[in-house]
Amino acid sequence: MKMDKKIIIANWKMNPNSLKEAKTIFNDIKVVASKLQSIQTVICPPFLYLNELTKSYKGHRIKFGAQNIFWEEKGSYTGEISPIMLKNLKTEYVIIGHSERRSLGETDSDINKKIKIALKNDLKVVLCIGEKERDEEGVYLEFLENQIKNALNRVPKESLGKILIAYEPIWAIGAESKETATPLDVYEIVILVRKILSKIYNREVASKIQVLYGGSVNFKNAKELVESGNVEGLLVGRESLNPEKFNKLLKAVSE
Ligand code: PGA
Repeated sequence: MKMDKKIIIANWKMNPNSLKEAKTIFNDIKVVASKLQSIQTVICPPFLYLNELTKSYKGHRIKFGAQNIFWEEKGSYTGEISPIMLKNLKTEYVIIGHSERRSLGETDSDINKKIKIALKNDLKVVLCIGEKERDEEGVYLEFLENQIKNALNRVPKESLGKILIAYEPIWAIGAESKETATPLDVYEIVILVRKILSKIYNREVASKIQVLYGGSVNFKNAKELVESGNVEGLLVGRESLNPEKFNKLLKAVSE
């Protein structure tokens, strides 16, 4: 389904080093993001900065997201952050299953539990999927299908409106990546994601879900990835820490 607004999610990962820097980056992005009516900007800072940033922001155009969540609501879970805590900080979105967390040991079953608790607490879920590499036999397509099936195991179709799927091929993420996915690569996966969702749920659900792309998105390739890749938005890492470039990216997609 074509949404009116494109959604651009800034994943700051474990950056920047201080709240002061976080505020500066946020304030610089705010100037542009709060003016663009056709873009929904979502900022996902480290947990530590969420409180201050959400408190200091008086507008309504920019939304906030977390980069992770725990699958219980409260209790003896040293070091974890609950969905209720996030909700209380005016957080609307949560990224779940990012490949960097999967590589730290997060399993499909953890991701499934996190999705369910996030939905229960009325958070919007940005579910990340993505293959490590592509092969000619198409094994990676099966891999993606399993990621989706396992993540959404027993997630009712009524909840799908609160889930966004971000296709982030690992080979295209981060400074080390030598390649960016082409819009055609992205387009093919968008079709695949909708096919898989049609199989699990039905065509109507599948056509409504928002699919995003992430992996080495910058202000130069953003617009084409959205338009020719046929995605409803982007998940942006490095470029979102540079307000000048990120603002250019927002403007490019909004045009
Ligand atoms: P990148 O990261 O834009 O720095 O490649 C994207 C992501 O991991 O979400």
